[in-house]
Amino acid sequence: MNDLATASKSAQSGGSIQLFYATSVARNRPTVDRADGIYMWDTAGRRYIDACSGPVACNIGHGNPRVLEAMIAQAKKVAYASRALFENRPNIDLADLVTRLAGPGLERAFFVSGGSEANEAAIKLARQYAVTRGETARCKVIAREPGYHGSTLGAVSVVGDPDSERVFGALVRVMPKVPAPFSYRLPPNHDADSYARHCAAELEAVIRREGPETVLAFMMEPVGGLATGALVAPDHYYAAVRQICDRYGVLLIFDEVMSGAGRTGTFLAAEHWPAGRPDLVTLAKGVSAGYTPLGAVLAPAHMVEAVAGAGGFLHGHTYSANPLSCAIGLAVVREMVERDLMRNAARMGVVLRKRLDAIKAKSPIVGDVRGLGLLQAIEIVADKETKAIFPAERQAVYRIIELGIERGLLLYSRRTANGKYGEWLMVCPPLIVTEAEIDEIARLLGQTLAAYEAELRSERALR
Ligand SMILES: Cc1ncc(COP(=O)(O)O)c(C=O)c1O
Repeated sequence: MNDLATASKSAQSGGSIQLFYATSVARNRPTVDRADGIYMWDTAGRRYIDACSGPVACNIGHGNPRVLEAMIAQAKKVAYASRALFENRPNIDLADLVTRLAGPGLERAFFVSGGSEANEAAIKLARQYAVTRGETARCKVIAREPGYHGSTLGAVSVVGDPDSERVFGALVRVMPKVPAPFSYRLPPNHDADSYARHCAAELEAVIRREGPETVLAFMMEPVGGLATGALVAPDHYYAAVRQICDRYGVLLIFDEVMSGAGRTGTFLAAEHWPAGRPDLVTLAKGVSAGYTPLGAVLAPAHMVEAVAGAGGFLHGHTYSANPLSCAIGLAVVREMVERDLMRNAARMGVVLRKRLDAIKAKSPIVGDVRGLGLLQAIEIVADKETKAIFPAERQAVYRIIELGIERGLLLYSRRTANGKYGEWLMVCPPLIVTEAEIDEIARLLGQTLAAYEAELRSERALR
């Protein structure tokens, strides 16, 4: 058989000889065939419940008819038009809708193709604004460790992951980091409250150490994503961070790529902490819910106008604000608003938390449950008493994901910094989820964890 014939046969059977993956554990995955609502099917006809919305992206579920219609209608009209030559209506309408939902102080939107791009655009806008104001020394963006802001090189400079820094640090200017205000694994003599105060104080200390006149911004996820397993800080942390940024003229950027677009029960997670309102917000994932690559930077009018007045934002991509993606985003956000999915996320978040707490009470390997709305995670431990993590070679969360797939349950995880901060699984179903579906997720999750526990027991018995 020649190479082409082999490749074609391999692709038909679901295998591949051309693809490469981030992790070796992702190799033997089923081949997806179709999806509807919160269910997905593989080419062998097996059904899976989507308990993670993919990588916490498919917020309104799969196969939404309104979005599919908008997609086709826009593609028939005009799929692409360059921003250099045309304005387009979906771009205007989507900007109008998301800025109205985001509220005061975030009156302008700039659309890109994803979360990493959105964060880089936000940093560039912040920098250009500082230059416009004559604050040319401001160039450092402080971020949290652990924290995640994307995989492109600009984003890598603010990603708080020692592994990523070790490998890619030489290619970029690694930005200063402050500790993320963890609530479960705490340094000695701290509780969650005092540690959050310590972490905020660290931000101030780092700004002072770096030289306040050189610090441009502080970037953080208001509710953590994969890097921290849905970390939520005590309320006072958000207010303290805002005050510290104000004290030194530092812009506060919320990366709401995962937490935004309704996931935590409000359009922006920022709405939960009015005293910690950010200057800039980035969105992606849920804003197009997996139907098209789309991201956004939301910014105050005065900042955009200052930059526009000084010659305009020095930034753009071929696909920025393209009509097709914006029309799809518009249909997604309208669907979310008209079906009141944010309220459903808030209500179902409470139900999900109860079910996860019940699992934690029974399972010897669930040490913590945390999150907000439908952005939640369970932390996996080898020993609940000591909070010891499983040895790295066990790849516990990846094995649990496999056991979930075998049972028709889709979960999401990645071991940040090789488990240095612990390991967790995201449990983040689409915002359309019903109580009955949460019960199904909880039942399958309980069975999946029980299967992993049984593997641990049988290994111990063998030893
Ligand atoms: C908080 C956060 N920021 C940024 C990104 C990067 O977004 P993208 O993968 O769309 O570039 C992600 C992706 O998971 C994320 O969770």
